[in-house]
Amino acid sequence: MGKKMPDPNSVVADQPKCPFVDMWSDEYNKNNLEILKHLREEHDLAFHKQGNTTVPLVTRYKDLWKIQRDWRTFQSGRAASHLADRRYDDPNDTPVFIPLDTDPPVHSEWRQIIEPLMTLKKMEAHSELIEGIADDLLSGLEGRTSFKVMDEFVRPMQARAIFAAILGVPADSDRILQFSEWAQDALIVPERAVDAFASLSAALLEILQERRENPRGDDDIVTVLANCRPGGEVPEDADLIKIMIALTLGGLESTGTVLSGTIHHMATHPDDLKELQDDMSLLDEAIEEALRLFVNVTLMQRTVTKETTLNGYDLEPGDKIWNLPGSANRDETVFPNADSWDVHRENKRHVSFGAGIHRCLGSNLARIFLRVAFTSVLTRMPGIALAPDQTIDTHSMPTRGLTEFVVTVDEITPAAAAR
Ligand code: HEM
Repeated sequence: MGKKMPDPNSVVADQPKCPFVDMWSDEYNKNNLEILKHLREEHDLAFHKQGNTTVPLVTRYKDLWKIQRDWRTFQSGRAASHLADRRYDDPNDTPVFIPLDTDPPVHSEWRQIIEPLMTLKKMEAHSELIEGIADDLLSGLEGRTSFKVMDEFVRPMQARAIFAAILGVPADSDRILQFSEWAQDALIVPERAVDAFASLSAALLEILQERRENPRGDDDIVTVLANCRPGGEVPEDADLIKIMIALTLGGLESTGTVLSGTIHHMATHPDDLKELQDDMSLLDEAIEEALRLFVNVTLMQRTVTKETTLNGYDLEPGDKIWNLPGSANRDETVFPNADSWDVHRENKRHVSFGAGIHRCLGSNLARIFLRVAFTSVLTRMPGIALAPDQTIDTHSMPTRGLTEFVVTVDEITPAAAAR
């Protein structure tokens, strides 16, 4: 017998000393890294209260790694993701995405269909498309010496690249603007989330039906989904939409946040910027370091399937657990000087893409996007620095990232001159 989980109603949170934290609080947002460091170093488990549920928070790398890989004890089928603002409700128990919120054998059947569509070789074919998007956005900024990073570069870049690559629609189509508004609402605006989900699902169904009438080749993701037979059965269209939503919504802000975190870092650390500009062969190392430091995924939820213990605490079937990759990635026992940017770090096994059977299906596309985008930052934004006199806000739930910031540059170098 281990220790019982604490009763949320009998504890008064005293952050950061107490292992109870309110992950929705301003305090958690503002002092996120300090709080996580304290919890990781001082407490075998930390706890978050939501609705009437006490949720253990897994902050250490080795615990997170073990749980993510033990899908028999820690299932995803009762919702692995956390959408919109649920601060007043019990943790999500309803599956939304496929294959994220499924378990074997259903999960394996879907992975067998989707994985071959997302290989490095197939995703590399999108490099030129993504380069064109970056060039187009930066051409629009030529002549300017300052710009809003999120609104004028990162958000349109992530939306155009991910929707175009996954759905095969033109990168400059008006549809994409509409899709990204719905995506934003579905993920972070609770009062519009349900309608936005419904509108996006209807639009994706239209694309699925279009592609059934006019199929493209075996490399086209929607064409393959439209005709697939998981486990030999004809799937429901509703399930195919859940996959298309996972592949698009799952790839947007996640990828853009690593880019915005890196732009902010380069604008505030001129030595790190110069090191990369002087030696572009370090780009792949820089991408891994950026993924480790600037992950936007705040939690991966699992539901316990059988009695077990974790660091001395009893867990019962039905209990929820939240794995925090942003904390595990800064675990000093695995990544010395974890808070510093170091492209020469030997251990690159961050958990930003998760681990185990649910490891991210979009990691190849994300890395290609980041390679193109980082190249643009390094070659087309000389003298990049933070604009003075601004307050930079962050958000930490349900995802973490910089909300907006402004940089100054000497110029936006035209694409032809930068190559
Ligand atoms: C830097 C960018 C990204 C990050 C940090 C990221 C992170 C993650 C993480 C942590 C998981 C595991 C979730 C869990 O175990 O509960 C995951 C799964 C997934 N990701 Fe990503 N992701 C990124 C980009 C993408 C992109 C570009 C796509 C699609 C184009 C994508 C699609 C998916 C899908 C479909 C899954 C579910 C896989 C499964 O359940 O088997 N992700 N991602």
